[in-house]
Amino acid sequence: MRVLVVASEAYPLVKTGGLADVAGALPAALCRLGVDARILLPAYPGVLAKVADPGVAHGLGDILGVGPSRLIEARMPDSGVPVWLLDCPTLFDRPGGPYQRPDGSEHPDNGLRFALLSRVAALLGSGEALANWSADIVHASDWQTGLVPAYLKLAGRQVPRTVFTIHNLHFAGLFGPDFVASAGLPPHAFSIDGVEFNGLVSTLKAGLFYADRLTTVSPTYAWEVTTPEGGRGLDGLLSGRARAGEFSGILNGVDYALWDPAKDPDIAAAYGPDTVAEGKARCKAALQREMGLDERPDAPVLGLVSRFSDQKGIDLVAGAAARLIEAGAQLAVLGSGDWALEQQFLQLSRRYAGSIAMQTAYDEALSHRIQAASDFFLVPSRFEPCGLTQLYALRYGALPIVRRTGGLADTVRDMSDEGTGTGFLFDSPSVEGLLSAFYRALALYARPDALHYARQRAMAQDFGWHRAAEAYVDLYEQTLRG
Ligand code: ADP
Ligand code: GLC
Repeated sequence: MRVLVVASEAYPLVKTGGLADVAGALPAALCRLGVDARILLPAYPGVLAKVADPGVAHGLGDILGVGPSRLIEARMPDSGVPVWLLDCPTLFDRPGGPYQRPDGSEHPDNGLRFALLSRVAALLGSGEALANWSADIVHASDWQTGLVPAYLKLAGRQVPRTVFTIHNLHFAGLFGPDFVASAGLPPHAFSIDGVEFNGLVSTLKAGLFYADRLTTVSPTYAWEVTTPEGGRGLDGLLSGRARAGEFSGILNGVDYALWDPAKDPDIAAAYGPDTVAEGKARCKAALQREMGLDERPDAPVLGLVSRFSDQKGIDLVAGAAARLIEAGAQLAVLGSGDWALEQQFLQLSRRYAGSIAMQTAYDEALSHRIQAASDFFLVPSRFEPCGLTQLYALRYGALPIVRRTGGLADTVRDMSDEGTGTGFLFDSPSVEGLLSAFYRALALYARPDALHYARQRAMAQDFGWHRAAEAYVDLYEQTLRG
């Protein structure tokens, strides 16, 4: 089976969040199952320097009137999975991140940038771009690649079949009605049975409407988005497709080759389930020194590594901070995004110097060190399609404190059952809700034996990619049967 995974980011080439972790690891897991899986990614600056064996470039001409494009063949750095880099200098060779300019504002032509990526995925998948490869399945994700199924279906193509995964329903990919023409879509596509959503084009809705099968990244989120509270206006479409058996939740996996405290090159001391107490103590001391926290071995360290956005409930941590510190805890925070939230945490870190440390960078290695040093890991999200940091935290024995929503509810078991618990869940998206879980965590921290067993249980959880990749292969086969 030949599968083209098209994404706007893929670790380790380019990453802003969990989508990159998934787009990097899933194709590798598919290849291990014998699938001919390949990746298509834009050639952002710096990406070409990171790939292995960059080879032949195939000219594609000027596809959407945006300037000439080429496909450069290469391999992913660690996994060796074949990757095509879409090189279109006018759209992708510029400063900033994949979506934003250096000043944090969106690239003004994001619609066209990702329309081109989607168009090329459709051409590559259907064998029109290259003579020697076509796909049985094109697997697209989120608003950036929502037009892939639209291009294929509107051209009347039954092959390749399309799977579209929702990593986050929050970003709808909205553009004005003029976008229909500039993206090269036929005028009739601008309809409720098409790409139109509340008078605008939504590339997310395009994916949800035209793809043969839909998935999202956890069973609970798959249910939440079919309700008016969680569906952001798309619950009608999604519940219809769920009733037709065309929409399901497949929980993400973890790449344990990258996330394992027993062989993590970035942390101060390697440890496994039997050595977690000593290992974590050494990692904690090292992190306290690194981040400027008081060197108190007895202080429970709470880790937080996150995009700073309303989704993540970061404001709840800020609101609870004074009481967390009063109770003797320390906070190690790594995150960036919303400017006001960043400022709030920088202020807190000055006010509670020695107890709250804050880094606003994007720092992959530091994120590993925080996982390794933390006793507890905070993920108080208002909504969370899957969430990966709580899965990493489990493997590092940092017991997650999470809100009972989406993938968090599917992956963390509450310590109210001490035989099976791996973390702490709370329901109310409020400071009080978060604190109630924190005080339960603190009570566990005061019982070293119970804490040790909970850590061992957490570390023994297996969220490897194998299970998820098998579920995708089953789904691809079903999709091919029609
Ligand atoms: P989301 O994709 O919604 O941001 P996930 O939990 O799925 O949430 O994935 C977030 C990923 O980004 C994780 O790999 C996490 O470690 C990483 N991450 C988030 N913020 C930072 C940061 N400031 N520095 C390094 N890694 C970060
Ligand atoms: C999104 C979601 C997150 C999920 C990630 C990978 O960014 O916000 O919950 O883990 O995608 O699927």
